Amino acid sequence: MEFDNFLRIEFFSRPENVGLARVTLAAFAAQLDYTITEIDDLKGAVSEAVSNAIIHGYGNDPDHVVKIVAYLREGELEIVVEDRGYGIPNIDEALRPGVSTVPERLGLGFSFIKSFVDRLEIISDPGKGTRVIMFKRPGSQSSDARTN
Ligand SMILES: Nc1ncnc2c1ncn2[C@@H]1O[C@H](COP(=O)(O)OP(=O)(O)O)[C@@H](O)[C@H]1O
Ligand SMILES: [Mg+2]
Repeated sequence: MEFDNFLRIEFFSRPENVGLARVTLAAFAAQLDYTITEIDDLKGAVSEAVSNAIIHGYGNDPDHVVKIVAYLREGELEIVVEDRGYGIPNIDEALRPGVSTVPERLGLGFSFIKSFVDRLEIISDPGKGTRVIMFKRPGSQSSDARTN
């Protein structure tokens, strides 16, 4: 088997499902030896990615599907948050702190995600959707030693 365990969930693009995704992923992640701070970081990362799928991927239209797949592989957690929405035309631009396509938003979600996980990958196809892939291993970084 390519992985030791996996989780797959799908839900409608509604804000009330952000909390559901957070706690579900936290419960799955608890199979690894994370600290409470690391679990909180994972919850934050999942919240930001799912919120982005709902707000930006689907423009707050509540009737689309957000999918999360997570893998445990050799002591590392991989989380994939996927939407089939608008996509991101310029990923470098979207990653820049303070840049948002919605005027009243802060544009810090991806910066938070980067600080919460070990590695962030974004695969996006304008018009087809976005996959945000996050990797985190227990004990890989201390929350107060982060520089970015
Ligand atoms: N799933 C997504 N689909 C389409 N665009 C996205 C998605 N996630 C992020 N983006 C784009 O990346 C930008 C930056 O996202 P983020 O850092 O979370 O800031 P914010 O959500 O405050 O705009 C968003 O403004 C949006 O343009
Ligand atoms: Mg965001």
